Amino acid sequence: MIPWEEIDRAKVPGQESELILRKRGGEFSIRTGGTELMNSRIHGSEEALAGLALKRIHPKPVQNILVGGLGMGYTLAETLKLSQPETRVLVAELIPAVISWNRDHIGHLAGMPLDDPRVRVEPSDVAAIINRQKALWDIILLDVDNGPAGLTRKTNNRLYSDTGLKTAFKALTPGGVLAIWSAGDDPAFTRSLARCGFRAEPVSVRATSSGKGSRHTIWVAVKPGSKGKSS
Ligand SMILES: C[S@@+](CC[C@H](N)C(=O)[O-])C[C@H]1O[C@@H](n2cnc3c(N)ncnc32)[C@H](O)[C@@H]1O
Repeated sequence: MIPWEEIDRAKVPGQESELILRKRGGEFSIRTGGTELMNSRIHGSEEALAGLALKRIHPKPVQNILVGGLGMGYTLAETLKLSQPETRVLVAELIPAVISWNRDHIGHLAGMPLDDPRVRVEPSDVAAIINRQKALWDIILLDVDNGPAGLTRKTNNRLYSDTGLKTAFKALTPGGVLAIWSAGDDPAFTRSLARCGFRAEPVSVRATSSGKGSRHTIWVAVKPGSKGKSS
């Protein structure tokens, strides 16, 4: 068995814990406080997050997509693969070290998506970016935590609260799509999305692209209007 090798560690802004990047052969892992946040072997549902949102909005043109956060870049790479040349993608990543790691150590995993000229990355809280402008985003993709029921970062609660969902609703263009990754289903959250004006459904997806492994949930929530398909 190849031993894990520590590549780097970084302070998480505003927290005691550190983020650790490790490597074992060709496999990479990001951990914090003894818990694995991401592993490069498992990224099927991260790609499905982008795939489901873009499929829902197709065939209408997509100008602006917001991706929060970056992680290992799999959601971003799938977004780029399925988007037109004129689409612009902004990535919001809270932890600056994650951006540096994607540039220096792990970018090859998802095909160096940060090098794509359509992409801009901001070291920011995605909640602040959503709050910035109304009716701008055709698609907002959120994979920043375990989901509405299992927060690892308390401040992310505002993204999943009714206030956060209403802010996301306003930030989307008519027909725009909000897609949210979660480790598990949460019927109360589906109701929250509906209460905030979305036509929403939870979609169960496999953790790996081979169709094996545990299941994750992705909510596809459409803001009624002319762009997305409503069902
Ligand atoms: C599970 S990873 C995302 C994985 C990503 N979908 C992929 O394909 O690799 C979660 C990422 O969100 C970032 N994050 C957490 N809270 C955030 C926030 N409020 N705003 C922006 N990024 C955030 C974390 O630092 C981490 O890089």
